[in-house]
Amino acid sequence: MKYKIGLIHGDGIGPEIVSEAKKVLDAVSEKYKVTFYYQNLLLGGASIDACGVPLTDETICQAKQCNAVLMGSIGGDAMTSPWYQLEPSKRPEAGLLGIRKSLNLFANLRPAYLYEELKDACPLKEKIIGNGFDMMIVRELTGGLYFGEKKTTETDGGKTAVDTLIYSEDEIRRTAKRAFAIARKRRKKVTSVDKANVLESSRLWRAVMEETAKDYPDVTLEHMLVDNCAMQLVANPGQFDVVVTENTFGDILSDEASMITGSIGMLPSASLNETKFGLYEPSHGSAPDIAGKNIANPLATVLSAAMMLRFSLDLDKEAAAVERAVEKVLKEGYRTPDIMSKGCKEVSTSEMGDLLAENLSVMQAV
Ligand code: NAD
Ligand code: IPM
Ligand code: MN
Repeated sequence: MKYKIGLIHGDGIGPEIVSEAKKVLDAVSEKYKVTFYYQNLLLGGASIDACGVPLTDETICQAKQCNAVLMGSIGGDAMTSPWYQLEPSKRPEAGLLGIRKSLNLFANLRPAYLYEELKDACPLKEKIIGNGFDMMIVRELTGGLYFGEKKTTETDGGKTAVDTLIYSEDEIRRTAKRAFAIARKRRKKVTSVDKANVLESSRLWRAVMEETAKDYPDVTLEHMLVDNCAMQLVANPGQFDVVVTENTFGDILSDEASMITGSIGMLPSASLNETKFGLYEPSHGSAPDIAGKNIANPLATVLSAAMMLRFSLDLDKEAAAVERAVEKVLKEGYRTPDIMSKGCKEVSTSEMGDLLAENLSVMQAV
């Protein structure tokens, strides 16, 4: 089989981590005799440098012709990068939001799973970790504060800025359905996170979750306020199966969840619409502080590539092979600096990619 994959190398550590994910995909291609055609696409800072804008119609058009797109992270250091001298709509992040909206990628799946081998890298106490945790955060990605009306007005009393948190029933319902469908294939529990004690949009969110739950009687729905959820994530992470929440809450909670898996460098993501297409990217940013040093953890990107194989290309056994390779390398004690523990062997970004590719090529196919 042949597949066309768009590659967005991105900014900062983006090119370093995407190279390693491509190394792993090349090993998959070699072993399982599937063909991947790659097309490089521009987004974010790299697109500003090449085309003057963070997202072009050409990138959208090229992405639509791919089976899936794998991307590193975009953006730079807001204090030092010239990209942040531009008006907000021309900055790298606007490109990312633009491609999500243009391709209607409303469901952002961010799995937070604690590998047995990374218990030492998890900052939580052993009694809290218990038997580990395995949750899927479903973050609504094309609505809420990110896409509501925003403006700054100037009056005699000084400037006033407004961001609008807006959701329609339809936007909430399609996200709810996705969360329930995912829960059905897991431990059949959905925790819907909102701020219904204060926000009108959250009260609508909660009502639509309740209504949708009627179509999934085999799945248990519970509601949790977002401030409590932030606390529960570090008090008892094992309680969560599927967590569904609006855009901003999901952004913040998924960074928190990433850290309890050992590092933000471990958390992959898939941004999906109603088709097979998906945009796959690590949940972390472009980490300008460590860019170019060959020390970034490429595993979130490699695991995003595994999600791409499974969800967009239907290559289940190939996806499982990548996940097994990650597990094996961790079991053998190899760690990038962010997940390093006593007694382990520290490796660079590229060495981690090499180890994964080698493991894949010698691993028994299942
Ligand atoms: P960040 O996630 O880039 O970095 C936060 C911290 O985590 C830093 O100390 C960084 O070194 C570390 N880190 C991140 N990824 C790592 C990895 N793979 N391995 C080891 N350490 C890693 O967040 P930030 O510093 O707030 O943002 C930097 C830039 O990235 C900003 O321009 C922001 O807008 C952008 N950003 C992009 C995306 C994306 O493209 N999806 C996501 C988040 C942030
Ligand atoms: C993420 C990032 C983006 C977001 C930024 C870069 C716009 O933080 O993918 O988590 O807030 O969605
Ligand atoms: Mn984020």
